[in-house]
Amino acid sequence: MSASASSSPSIEHVRRKLAERFRNGGIDSAELDARLLTGDVLGLDLTGMIAAAGRMLTSSESDRLESFAQRRLAGEPVARILGRKEFWGLSLQLSPATLVPRPDTETVVELALQILRAGASDRPLWIADLGTGSGAILLALLSELPQARGVGTDISTAALQTAAANAARAGLAHRAGFVACEYASGLSGPFDLIVSNPPYIRSADIAGLATEVRDHDPPAALDGGADGLDAYRALIPQAANRLAPGAALVVEAGQGQSADIEALMNAAGLMPAWPPKADLAGVWRAVAGQKSPP
Ligand SMILES: C[S@@+](CC[C@H](N)C(=O)[O-])C[C@H]1O[C@@H](n2cnc3c(N)ncnc32)[C@H](O)[C@@H]1O
Repeated sequence: MSASASSSPSIEHVRRKLAERFRNGGIDSAELDARLLTGDVLGLDLTGMIAAAGRMLTSSESDRLESFAQRRLAGEPVARILGRKEFWGLSLQLSPATLVPRPDTETVVELALQILRAGASDRPLWIADLGTGSGAILLALLSELPQARGVGTDISTAALQTAAANAARAGLAHRAGFVACEYASGLSGPFDLIVSNPPYIRSADIAGLATEVRDHDPPAALDGGADGLDAYRALIPQAANRLAPGAALVVEAGQGQSADIEALMNAAGLMPAWPPKADLAGVWRAVAGQKSPP
């Protein structure tokens, strides 16, 4: 970076060269990653970068961007380098203990909102998010539902600290609480909605994951046991016992897991009242079950 910066170090030139290095390094999202990293170093959004395209980088900006570039080329995701990720319009801080929230998980938020809004939508709501990580799902729901309060649980106290900081940053701390426990075991309910995106990767598949995931997401956020379903076996009966009559459990499913999850929900007495929802790739990503209505 320093060499190219000294020959023609305008923002636009540096951003294009970085994208080219990322493409040559086999990074699929080369253009986007180059734009995000360059923008972060300069403190500029896309519009600001276009407006300042001809401005030269300072040497400290060049050095910082080169350090980011090397981390990205070594397989570190942009979100980890920046320490934050956008989810449902919220800018969420990350820590080593939190999963990087994925766009697919917005499917869980969409299905949960669809279910809640089909009912009486202005009554107070009490929501639980099991395995909350950065707080992504809970905070997205609270941002949409001003009459709702919620609690996020996690076995990682470090993740819960990050989630609580994210709640404060989003102006939602007065409606969000966080509890360290195994899924719903420390909660009493009854809840009007329970959501969860638990670890669901088969243990044997973890070694073959992309380095961005395997080496940078916390193992406790990934490993779902031998068949990937351990977390669902633990949390579905717990959730079923803590739902209000007629209320929904909505969980994220890994590819090919939706039928198994529906069977576990059925065994716990939850009915398939709403069809699963597919993500943008056509994977059945959000699965819901309903506690018997009163
Ligand atoms: C796949 S991550 C999801 C994080 C966040 N909900 C999201 O969607 O971005 C799973 C989360 O479950 C937590 N977790 C793993 N085992 C758990 C358990 N037994 N009880 C509670 N949380 C658990 C992990 O620490 C991690 O934060």
